Amino acid sequence: MSATTTSAAPPAYAKGFETLSDEVVVDRLPVSGALPTWLAGSLLRTGPAKFEAGERQMRHWFDGLAMLHRFTFADGAVSYGNRYLRGRTAHAVLDEGRIAYPEFATDPCRTLFRRVQTLFAPTFGDNANVNVMRLGERFVSMTETPISVQFDPDTLEAAGVPFMPPGQLTTAHPHLDRETGGMLNYAAKLGPRNEYRFFALGPDDAEPRVLARIPTKNVGYVHSFGLTERWIVLAEFPWAVNPLRMIASGRPFVENFRWEPERGTRFLLVDRRTGAHGPTFATDPFFAFHHVNGYDDGDDLVLDISTYADPSLVQALYLDNLRAGGPVPSSELRRFRLSAATGDVRHERLVAEPFELGRINYGRCNARPYRCAWGVTSGPDTWLDGIVKADVEERATTVWREAGRFPGEPVFAARPGAEDEDDGVLLSVVLDADRGTSFLLVLDAADLSEVARAEVPHHIPFSFHGQFAARR
Ligand SMILES: [Fe+2]
Repeated sequence: MSATTTSAAPPAYAKGFETLSDEVVVDRLPVSGALPTWLAGSLLRTGPAKFEAGERQMRHWFDGLAMLHRFTFADGAVSYGNRYLRGRTAHAVLDEGRIAYPEFATDPCRTLFRRVQTLFAPTFGDNANVNVMRLGERFVSMTETPISVQFDPDTLEAAGVPFMPPGQLTTAHPHLDRETGGMLNYAAKLGPRNEYRFFALGPDDAEPRVLARIPTKNVGYVHSFGLTERWIVLAEFPWAVNPLRMIASGRPFVENFRWEPERGTRFLLVDRRTGAHGPTFATDPFFAFHHVNGYDDGDDLVLDISTYADPSLVQALYLDNLRAGGPVPSSELRRFRLSAATGDVRHERLVAEPFELGRINYGRCNARPYRCAWGVTSGPDTWLDGIVKADVEERATTVWREAGRFPGEPVFAARPGAEDEDDGVLLSVVLDADRGTSFLLVLDAADLSEVARAEVPHHIPFSFHGQFAARR
């Protein structure tokens, strides 16, 4: 794990890890530049926005209480609203001032008796602060516990639990299935016998259908998975947990995982349509949160992933380290080629810049050959200070960067009728460290030139993921 060091002064981006208490609705944000008149719909984002409960501090960035943000575009104008995701976790934190459910790295205060009780009858929180998804006409905020929360995309009011995955752990990075309009996702079933599972859920369904079960002794940490037109791909890093020991350990969730690099990383394949197990590939140990894209190339598979040498990134994302400007490892966008003929895995670095929170023209390119990926990048002495476009064919990059501005995930919105893969805009929430507020940045996705920016009346704590939902 990387060292947690402190520097004398807080970094310029420290504001991004401060609580935001204001919940507002602004009918028309001040805009400089000109929003495209074709941009119609909402950017919906979730992320941690409150980092204490009563007297207790959350320990890790991922523990913060979920808040939803909405930027709604129509006729060249944009409105904004934000609201805590008011489920049972928010009730405990906001109304009772307590942490009632286990978070990623912060636990409720519990006795051993209570922990054992939890083993047999787990109660999960619903702090869905990682990603949002549109499933048919439903909008859902998601995290890695099984509890997703449906919400109203206009008012951001929570509207109950839409479905339960077939396991105790899942991902907030489901893939959409073009053929059904539904979703594919992963779940880990923990118990005397552990299983990795993949499941499908139709656009209107409440009951998931398990596609595949893969028995496993220990359970690896899974944040996202790969998809090609033929395969679902689980990258199993050698960072795993024995679930029974986890419950008994008394340590928060993430602190139970062990890094065992000698085991290497495995790619486990499942046929998307039949659920049949495909071949297993082995490669060097590495860690990742995010697959960027994947595709079949004849019988080979190509997988592009933002990789790290080890899981020290998770340690670096404790709030004490982030607020002190401590080091954060940077990621390498790596292409893996899995050869069906030889069973070999080869990998290469695609671009020189660090590349995280990667997005693609998902509707057109998900699981298919593609050319453009957009993400956030970092300079040598700072963190998430730029937006990068990667041309993964030419291995070329374009970067947007401004001193004192810290952008989040760039979400691509395609121009209606577009022919080119990068014909559209990127939508990124940017912290202006000088003013202590955030703005929505709209860039031309082709060359990263600025199209417009819309000023938000407060800072928006750094968030993870969002989706653009075009108006229908
Ligand atoms: Fe993520």
